[in-house]
Amino acid sequence: MKLLCGITLFLAIVVAYYIYIPLPRTISEPWKLMVLDAAFRGVVWMGDVSHSLGLSHSVHVINSAVIDFESLVPVTNIKIQVEDTIFDGVHVRVYHPPGKEGKLRRAVVFIHGGGWSLGAPKLGSYDSLCRKMAADLNAVVVTVDYRMAPDVHFPVQYEECVQATKHFLRPDVLSQYLVDTERIAVCGDSAGGNLAAAVAQRIGIDDSTSVKFKLQVLIYPVLQALDFNTASYQQNQNVPILYRTLMARFWLEYLGANPDLIHSIITNNHTAQDQNYVSLSLSKLDWTILLSKRMIKQYKPVFPVTGSPSILKEVPALLDARAAPLLAEEEVLRMAPHAYVLTCEHDVLRDDGIMYARRLELAGVSVTNDHYEDGFHGCVSFAFWPSYFSVGIRAVQNYIAWLDDNL
Ligand SMILES: *[C@@H]1O[C@H](CO)[C@@H](O)[C@H](O)[C@H]1NC(C)=O
Repeated sequence: MKLLCGITLFLAIVVAYYIYIPLPRTISEPWKLMVLDAAFRGVVWMGDVSHSLGLSHSVHVINSAVIDFESLVPVTNIKIQVEDTIFDGVHVRVYHPPGKEGKLRRAVVFIHGGGWSLGAPKLGSYDSLCRKMAADLNAVVVTVDYRMAPDVHFPVQYEECVQATKHFLRPDVLSQYLVDTERIAVCGDSAGGNLAAAVAQRIGIDDSTSVKFKLQVLIYPVLQALDFNTASYQQNQNVPILYRTLMARFWLEYLGANPDLIHSIITNNHTAQDQNYVSLSLSKLDWTILLSKRMIKQYKPVFPVTGSPSILKEVPALLDARAAPLLAEEEVLRMAPHAYVLTCEHDVLRDDGIMYARRLELAGVSVTNDHYEDGFHGCVSFAFWPSYFSVGIRAVQNYIAWLDDNL
């Protein structure tokens, strides 16, 4: 009996040690987040082990765990009819709103996140989110099931989102779905926010598409890979669930680059000052002007004098605005639709979103920036049973309410 108690106590301590991580006091429901994070860390670790044993690519292992988890989430709102189809070679799912026929409806093109490599758009939280948007907005929702890394890399994810979107925006297709051509939004979270921003820029300047988006909704979008030491990267590098190293891994995977470059890019060696042609693009982005004093706290800019000049030549997509929409020219931004940018205080990507919101405003685009002081990266995916956070539920309600008012 004594031995059993001893073993139980020992195991409890080991588990607590594994789960416990210090978190900022203002974050939403810290204990729940620790458990979620411990599970996610476990999955990433399993992925890394299988990868190093040569059994399976780490991303495939992580994604199958994500799919298993999402399969547990019950289908909400069964009233919504869904249709799995193909738009110009790209798999999509269309959610039909329950409202009466005959009247033209609004529409949302939704692009899911997951680091361009993870995520199950037809299951669990993304499926619930799309059903909710379709029901609450009485809108046609199209979710793009683009192919992901490591099977494909940039620009495939981007191109597939553009193709599916351009197909949907064709007047004949819109009329088939009874959609009002003046009332269409594009929306995405995280890497999906990256793709949504890039698609919005592309549609804005594309002469071959006469129908344009009215709105773009970017939920904690990832928008640049030149600075992994922004104030928010520094502040939140160890805050779950999107650690800085994980974000850097996702970037390298998306761009099809050597994963070993991670050490160089998280120290900003790729944008060191000894690289003449980089200073040119950096000068277009005056980081300090774009961020408010309140946000930057103890921020110390990291721009090494000497670095690894070869990286930008080796991975030119780091400077490509289709991959990093924050780098777009002002002429492109000017043509982009009215924006809603959701940012979270406890997120490495907070400043990506804030800097983009500021750049859009400077280009004359009207922007609503909804900032969650208790928010963490990914919270919008945790608004449905069995894993929900109060901040996730609030964030979902608020962005859908904004769409309802503005679309
Ligand atoms: C960054 O670049 C410097 C200068 O080339 C080099 O000494 C250092 O090892 C690099 N750091 C990393 C982490 O690659």
